[in-house]
Amino acid sequence: MVQATPLLLVLFLALGAHGLAVKKCSLTGRWINDLGSNMTIGAVNANGGFAGSYHTAVTATTNEIKVSPLQGSMQKSPNQKGQPTFGFTVNWSFSDSITVFTGQCFVDEYGKEILKTMWLLRSRVENIKNDWKATRVGINVFTRLQSLE
Ligand code: BTN
Repeated sequence: MVQATPLLLVLFLALGAHGLAVKKCSLTGRWINDLGSNMTIGAVNANGGFAGSYHTAVTATTNEIKVSPLQGSMQKSPNQKGQPTFGFTVNWSFSDSITVFTGQCFVDEYGKEILKTMWLLRSRVENIKNDWKATRVGINVFTRLQSLE
């Protein structure tokens, strides 16, 4: 029993340290996706709301690409356990389209943050007969752009 006490102490400290070391995924910052698109997400407010900007690398149009605003929402329930689900909308400044993204912010096995998303891109069509071809769907994976500091 006397020898068991230091062992339990070591176990307790190890578990405690592990608990403290669990890294959380934060949406705030600069991200790049598999297409080479960049986005910047600002601070997430108390309600989970956030805003940012999106610089797409590609377009379904022939228009000149411009940086576009995004508005989003992150789940704040305690059950998210540091890997929150979120959604955001990009209201394209240079086209008639809207894209909605939904995803989850993960920390991978190396401690690297990664955003796994799916999106729907709604284009404007001239009339209801063309509605069938107005929506594209896809996935994007974002990794954090490292700051120079
Ligand atoms: C448009 O072409 O009308 C607006 C730009 C759409 C860019 C799409 S949104 C989904 C996908 N992910 C990106 O980073 N860019 C494309």
